[in-house]
Amino acid sequence: MADVDQRSAGVAIAAEHVRKHFGHVEALRDASLQASFGEVVALFGDNGAGKSTFLRVLQGIYRPDSGRIVVNNAQVALSSVRDAQRLGVDTVHQDLSLAPDLSVIDNMFLGHEVLRRRSLRAVGALDRRRMAEQTEAALRELSISLPSLRVPVRDLSGGQRQAVAVARAVMWSSAALLMDEPTAALGARQSEKVCELIRTVASRGLGVVVVSHDLPRILSIADRVVVLWRGATVLDVPSKGLTVPDVVATMVGYRQEAHE
Ligand SMILES: Nc1ncnc2c1ncn2[C@@H]1O[C@H](COP(=O)(O)OP(=O)(O)OP(=O)(O)O)[C@@H](O)[C@H]1O
Ligand SMILES: [Mg+2]
Repeated sequence: MADVDQRSAGVAIAAEHVRKHFGHVEALRDASLQASFGEVVALFGDNGAGKSTFLRVLQGIYRPDSGRIVVNNAQVALSSVRDAQRLGVDTVHQDLSLAPDLSVIDNMFLGHEVLRRRSLRAVGALDRRRMAEQTEAALRELSISLPSLRVPVRDLSGGQRQAVAVARAVMWSSAALLMDEPTAALGARQSEKVCELIRTVASRGLGVVVVSHDLPRILSIADRVVVLWRGATVLDVPSKGLTVPDVVATMVGYRQEAHE
């Protein structure tokens, strides 16, 4: 896990005036947001507003037609997911991207450097021990407790799986964590736990961007709120004092406030 002390001050991740079109569809026409280190930014918007597209731009999946992206206080050009990962940006996808038959430990390293050199099966005993230790440390740091690290991930509850996916992304991030609908598949209690986990991640110094339709819950843990409407940022304010009806009115385009 990246050393918290080495995580800097200032902008963890930001995008300014991003445009992205697909054929005739202008998915993003003027999208902006900024997450400082240690901050949770909620990204809200109606269906089709451009949230997933925006997240994919920040992840290096789509190249924007224009606009600026900043990671760790420096302007960057992201050509791939690897690019974003190298700069310290990792993502928790809505489907979690876990391998259900593999253990918690193996999942923590899935798709990352240690294992790309050799296949999972060929990893030696020493590496195994190191992987177990790193997994334990990563989970401990986020106060995540699981029945066992050696069970296949499919035997965990939905909330526990979500926690593993978050811990994995945090273990490989040094700047920002992007999350798509982290509570969508969860019951009330597990959603609360994931929200606590998101706050813990931010308190460890990462900037967190959360896309969600779960307005009340995510609003309650966000430091800032950004609302996209038809591909443009129409609200970008601190969450303090903001109510769910305020956000909904902006999401559906009834009310638009100037950016701060
Ligand atoms: N690969 C693509 N090709 C063509 N159009 C796309 C593509 N991806 C997104 N769009 C369009 O861009 C717009 C924004 O879509 P996006 O998926 O980003 O919205 P969203 O805010 O995530 O919506 P939801 O809340 O329903 O997930 C929509 O009109 C969508 O149809
Ligand atoms: Mg979406």
